[in-house]
Amino acid sequence: MSDKLCGKKILSLVKKQDFYNLIVLDSVNSTNSYIKELAVSGTPHATTVIADSQTNGRGRLGRDFFSPCGTGIYMSILIDPTKIKLPASYLTIAAGVAVCRTLTDICDDSPSIKWVNDIFMHGKKVCGILAESVINSETNTPSYVIVGIGINVSTAAEIFPGKLNEIAGSVFPENITRNEIIAKLLDEFDNICANAEIENLVDEYKKYSLVLGKKISFTKNGKAFSGTAIDINLDGNLVVILEDGQEIILSSGEVSLRSSNFLN
Ligand code: BTN
Repeated sequence: MSDKLCGKKILSLVKKQDFYNLIVLDSVNSTNSYIKELAVSGTPHATTVIADSQTNGRGRLGRDFFSPCGTGIYMSILIDPTKIKLPASYLTIAAGVAVCRTLTDICDDSPSIKWVNDIFMHGKKVCGILAESVINSETNTPSYVIVGIGINVSTAAEIFPGKLNEIAGSVFPENITRNEIIAKLLDEFDNICANAEIENLVDEYKKYSLVLGKKISFTKNGKAFSGTAIDINLDGNLVVILEDGQEIILSSGEVSLRSSNFLN
């Protein structure tokens, strides 16, 4: 089965065929960086850039995102917040839920989300999401948001360099091409963005959560804490009860779980 990325094929599969200005590239530094340049020159809402490989794929907290050719999906969607019903601050959650719905449909195993937005399957991180906003300095609201999604589809374990292969894995779906996966994902993301029912979205996000009810550790203002993740509130923030009973609400950053907790 050929698994070559093809914009025409993807557009023939998505429900809203006229919605996406789809750009498919063989290789690019980072689809997020590329689309940011397009945004400056006025490319429209829902422009989507997909690359077969990235030479400088970027992750959260200044990390790299390993993006070898032929075995992953590296894509960025440009969102004009005035063109969707969902508030822009929920786009990261929306992307996480869209990926999980898609993976649930196409894989035997179930995906889980490690707050904020790392997607795990069979104990390994298989997908990362990087949402970046460009803020209008006059209104202090985002002029646009770039939602970058990287999925390891069929990257073999030995291909991940160094220690990365202890953490990263692939989804290995059967009998489905990357074009078909991308089309499903765009449809799911589009459906979520067209809806403003935040409570339902956060509830669905919580169902996929890998951290709720688990012992976690994290740092805040340079200080290390550990506690139990008890809730994700309506703003998408993680509510943690520390060992001394104090409640902390995390709106950003990263939490760690014991390695045995990564298996659902
Ligand atoms: C993370 O794991 O911290 C987030 C990874 C996000 C990777 C995707 S791949 C497509 C888009 N382009 C990038 O440079 N990064 C995102």
